Amino acid sequence: MNIRVGCIGTGNAGTHHLLRMEKYLPGSCVAFSDVKRDTFDRLVASYYGEGGGDHGDFRSQAFPLRPEFRNIPFYTDPEEMLRKEDINTVIIASYDSHHAKAVETCVRHGMNIFLEKPIAITEPDVRMVWNLLRNYPKVTTVNFSLRGSPVSESARRHIQNGTIGRIVSVQFVNNVHYGDCYFRGWMRTQNRVGSLMLQKATHDLDLINYFIGLTPVAVSAFGSRQVYGGDMPNDLTCDDCDRKMTCPMSIYRRQMDASKALPGPGNRLCVFAKEIDIEDNQVVAIQYERGVTASFSQTFNAPHAGGQRGGYFIGTEGILDFRYYGEFDEFPSTGAYVKGTSTIHITRYNDRPGSSIHETHDWANIGHFGSGEALAEGWIKKLNGQPSSINADIRDGYVSAMMCLAADKSIRTGGQMIKLDLNL
Ligand SMILES: NC(=O)c1ccc[n+]([C@@H]2O[C@H](COP(=O)([O-])OP(=O)(O)OC[C@H]3O[C@@H](n4cnc5c(N)ncnc54)[C@H](O)[C@@H]3O)[C@@H](O)[C@H]2O)c1
Repeated sequence: MNIRVGCIGTGNAGTHHLLRMEKYLPGSCVAFSDVKRDTFDRLVASYYGEGGGDHGDFRSQAFPLRPEFRNIPFYTDPEEMLRKEDINTVIIASYDSHHAKAVETCVRHGMNIFLEKPIAITEPDVRMVWNLLRNYPKVTTVNFSLRGSPVSESARRHIQNGTIGRIVSVQFVNNVHYGDCYFRGWMRTQNRVGSLMLQKATHDLDLINYFIGLTPVAVSAFGSRQVYGGDMPNDLTCDDCDRKMTCPMSIYRRQMDASKALPGPGNRLCVFAKEIDIEDNQVVAIQYERGVTASFSQTFNAPHAGGQRGGYFIGTEGILDFRYYGEFDEFPSTGAYVKGTSTIHITRYNDRPGSSIHETHDWANIGHFGSGEALAEGWIKKLNGQPSSINADIRDGYVSAMMCLAADKSIRTGGQMIKLDLNL
């Protein structure tokens, strides 16, 4: 297939997805659409060796980028882009609140779709996206970016192949050690992201679903905002604040005390702003088919060395201890991970006391625990009609989003149990 790509939303994620397509399919990116183009220009310039580097999660290792790439046509209206340009594949990476509308536009133009998570942020929109794409004849994928990492694939295979017997329960946590970034930019309001269940936990719930291969039945949850938000002005940044050297959350204090890299221009807002209305910690209980149970909790104020993402998968014959963050180290001036390992540790009833299976997976300097390149390869395979089991489909995105919406609903109703009406 002659892949011709457009992108709606060229911030950090969208621009890096385009760059990765250019890396593997030079010349494939045709045009992009956004309400503004500054992030695209800044990130692309860094690939030509201009300006500062960028070491976000999506960054690909350097490659020779064709000189004309920076001049591909730019549109503020995606509809106009799809009408005028010869495009057959669209990456959707605009704000979460815009995904449903972007999907609807792409379906009308018969595009293959690479959709960033969450698929949408309200129940009507989530159902609309599901109904538009469930039998859509073109190729679609939802970017659950942890699935492609080698450690994820290995854990999934162990669980599916019965290394720990039949799955009984799961205990999963995400203690986010970069959680402040969600409160320093656009992701801090319900109208843009829905909640941090939809914005963040959608990954973790998808992983649990993916690893155990079961359908969730019901959810109940609690959550609250304990750390972020307050009465500071919504447009205040650490740069302009007269408490920049005294506030413990100041990006300058963090740099001086903890050697944290200063965040990019879109991520410097005050974390105590009035408009912040999303929770910063949640606890969720999930019931799956066959009586299998899972717990999930996330917090957004873990200290740097306290970052944890993973959990225990408990089977009839043993336990799989899964950790994305084993040993990891960031380079102070850039935030790039110069060292990073994930681990799997399996203990089984009938192993001798000193025996266990231990795996270490290295992901230093590759975003999302080594996943980004593998998922790009899988997406290109899918576009060429070949299977790729690691790339999520719309059903996966829909089920996970519905679980997040149910958790949010449960939180709003004091922890009431919400049965999932999935209509799969
Ligand atoms: N899969 C992952 O691991 C992962 C990680 C980070 C972000 N994301 C997702 O990627 C998306 C973008 O996040 P980001 O971190 O790149 O944020 P970002 O702020 O860097 O980029 C968002 C871009 O969307 C643009 N935009 C907003 N409204 C638009 C509209 N109506 N039409 C077109 N463009 C519009 C903004 O101008 C901005 O350039 C989000 O949906 C987020 O959930 C996914």
